[in-house]
Amino acid sequence: MTSDVDESTVVLGIETSCDETAAAVVIGGREVASSVVSSQIELHAAFGGVVPEIAGRAHEQTLVPAVAQALLEAGIEDDEVDAIAATVGPGLIGSLLIGVSAAKALAVAWDVPFVGVNHLEGHLHAAFLEDPSVELPLVVLLVSGGHTMLVHMEELGRYRLLGSTVDDAAGEAFDKVARYLDLGYPGGPVIDRLAMDGDPAAIQFPRAMLDDGHDFSFSGLKTAVINHVRKHPLTSTPDLAASFQEAVVDVLVTKARRAAAEMGAKGLALAGGVAANSSLRERMLDACHEDGLRAFLPSRSMCTDNAAMIAAAGWWRLGHDGPTGIDAGADPSLKLQFIL
Ligand code: KG4
Ligand code: ZN
Repeated sequence: MTSDVDESTVVLGIETSCDETAAAVVIGGREVASSVVSSQIELHAAFGGVVPEIAGRAHEQTLVPAVAQALLEAGIEDDEVDAIAATVGPGLIGSLLIGVSAAKALAVAWDVPFVGVNHLEGHLHAAFLEDPSVELPLVVLLVSGGHTMLVHMEELGRYRLLGSTVDDAAGEAFDKVARYLDLGYPGGPVIDRLAMDGDPAAIQFPRAMLDDGHDFSFSGLKTAVINHVRKHPLTSTPDLAASFQEAVVDVLVTKARRAAAEMGAKGLALAGGVAANSSLRERMLDACHEDGLRAFLPSRSMCTDNAAMIAAAGWWRLGHDGPTGIDAGADPSLKLQFIL
């Protein structure tokens, strides 16, 4: 850690990788002084998914107000900000560029360092923001709209990829199934709600690759739902939602607890938007209890995209690697660096 990054360092975080415009102030990488998230869901809902062009334009309009609100809520003046962190990838290029350009402009205007953050590393940091007792090493199940990964977090910055999806991400499966059933976008929260009134055992959907290493596959499950509806058009939607969700959660929980056992981890953490799922949270808690593991389940708002996690990861990166060059760009397919 460089000498000028410590527990009092104030980082303004900016997140615009997809359809949330977010700004947050985090002090010392842990204390969330404010976290503002302006969702664009209503703008995209009519199209059944995120429209990149609309997302970019909306970020342009809402980012400055979001930053102003984050500073106001935190009670922080411009000249008290020590560094600015922004998501540089992965994500939609037009959206990323809005956040990165704004962050660099503010860094130059306020004469403070800019630090580029990998969105996935942001998600990995989320658990630390709400529970100071999080201890490493830890197995993290990172499940979002674009990614599904099991990561062994040996220490901050040292991540081992244990497994990932070979096709659709878990959130993508929720979104695609919801779209097919005409339930709206994003699909995860709607299916989560509907499933509460359905029978998870009504339909036995496939659990792909359940006993097969740490990788995942969800595209066959999506097809199985579609085939079932074609053959049985009168199936109740809550039963479909509950049975689909049960299949996803079964696979996620089985693989996460197996990975924790194999790695000898002391705890399991959830991260990413799908970690907001009620059934996944409940089942993960039960599994951890049975296996004697500590469970770290960030609140729903910390699981879905936010800028506090970006500020936290930015604070750590700044201390570890120093500032990012002001000439750095955004990378829509940025990869997280894993150890072998
Ligand atoms: O992490 P996130 O906010 O954005 C990405 O980086 O992708 O995750 C969004 C994903 C979407 O696919 C959404 O349907 C899913 O998370 N999601 C959920 C729930 N809330 C959001 N999936 C299942 N159950 C939920 N309650
Ligand atoms: Zn995300």
